[in-house]
Amino acid sequence: MWKRIEHIGIAVKDLKASNDLFKILFNTSPYKEEVVKSEHVTTSFFQLGETKIELLEGGSDSTITKFIDKKGEGIHHIAFEVEDIYAEIDRLRKEGFQVLNDPPKKGADNKLVCFVHPKTANGVLVELCQEIKK
Ligand code: CO
Repeated sequence: MWKRIEHIGIAVKDLKASNDLFKILFNTSPYKEEVVKSEHVTTSFFQLGETKIELLEGGSDSTITKFIDKKGEGIHHIAFEVEDIYAEIDRLRKEGFQVLNDPPKKGADNKLVCFVHPKTANGVLVELCQEIKK
């Protein structure tokens, strides 16, 4: 079951400058900054009610940097919270979606995550996420 939009990911060139910008826009500060080593990205998160905005700055060989080189800064992905990420990966694969990482991997903000290729989802990079239970 898909529960809600957990966050929207925005690719930025300069995380510090964008934190300052979005801080003024949202009138609130990011609640965390986190380096995701496996993806070569640095992220920050703003909590806005039930959902979040994730800003992502990429290192030189990251997919974020490649995205910005091609398309410029802007919305990079939409992340949906799902109840059972393993079941959803199986289901989507059977339906013909290109799942980019199976099994799911550990993403930012204590989540298991999996991406669906935008070419199989009308140009939208879809992230499935599920909180890692402690
Ligand atoms: Co994300």
